Amino acid sequence: SPRIFSGMQPTSDSLHLGNYLGALTQWVALQDAYDALYCVVDLHALTVSPDPVQLRERTRRTAAQYLAAGVDPERSILFVQSHVAEHAELSWLLSCQTGFGEAGRMTQFKDKSAKHGAEGTTVGLFTYPILMAADILLYDTALVPVGEDQRQHLELTRDLAERLNKRFGDGTAVVPDAHIVKATAKIYDLQDPTAKMSKSAASPNGIIELLDPPKTVAKRIRSAVTDTGSEIRFDRENQPGIANLLTIYSALTGREVDAIVADYAGKGYGHLKVDLADVVVEFLAPFQERVDGYLSDPASLDAVLEDGAERARAIARATLDRVADRFGLLPRR
Ligand code: TYM
Repeated sequence: SPRIFSGMQPTSDSLHLGNYLGALTQWVALQDAYDALYCVVDLHALTVSPDPVQLRERTRRTAAQYLAAGVDPERSILFVQSHVAEHAELSWLLSCQTGFGEAGRMTQFKDKSAKHGAEGTTVGLFTYPILMAADILLYDTALVPVGEDQRQHLELTRDLAERLNKRFGDGTAVVPDAHIVKATAKIYDLQDPTAKMSKSAASPNGIIELLDPPKTVAKRIRSAVTDTGSEIRFDRENQPGIANLLTIYSALTGREVDAIVADYAGKGYGHLKVDLADVVVEFLAPFQERVDGYLSDPASLDAVLEDGAERARAIARATLDRVADRFGLLPRR
């Protein structure tokens, strides 16, 4: 079956609800119909110089959250990026096919480098999307389930794949499609419903981390910024706060937004928030229990990751050999 690849950076102790609804639930839903690889992209996390002890811890925690969400290592390949050296190798080949200006146009790079300044911005942050393209092309990936914020990186990946095919012949790379589910492609910050929910938000109050204590989560939802007016409607333009809450409500319960809106006819924002807080807490409690289970047995967790790396390596090696040969590198024996 066609292949999917996706990954998340282990840059915080917990994933947030945007990561979960924008990407992780899609990963779980797609793993039966596709040949799936799900990766903890620790090399990408290095671009912001994390503390080594913390990085190791967060890499395991991220993997545990994939498992707790329902990624099944029997059906999918679950692994850590740095365990498959071919990611870095292909990234070099691709970086020699990427224009300096082309890489400089990536909006995430522009945002992050503006924030950190020229001296605080690593070269790794600049080449980050090329490593991401390598992740994807290394597995001849057809489909990449991600949130809206990754769209431009996917476009670059497609451009690179097409360039390779043009330059080195058809079949050098598979051109991947992004899989971005419109309803949940962008979950917004609870305190600023025009900004995406993000690990690097100014205040933690707008973020729901999957491993936050339930009390904190409930409080944050109850104090979410809502709009003027009081009618509960789904109107992204004029009522972005309520639209965001309805999106989360719908995604976690599987109920249509319209049905939820109908339930709250004539009721105020407060009702919706109190109920949504319950919905989120009910989802998080068993999720957190599962994460704790995986983290309490790091040896088993590491064994799952090692097995995944072994399976990933076999695919990666074959692709890299093929591509390197097309580039004119002398075959290794
Ligand atoms: P990362 O770690 O920032 O985010 C992981 C995934 O979560 C999605 N996401 C969101 N979706 C909806 N609403 C939000 N507020 C929200 N915030 C984040 C992201 O779109 C992503 O799907 N560059 C990637 C990691 C990566 C990757 C790859 C992804 C490296 N190599 C290869 C796919 C394929 C990133 O930084 O994701």
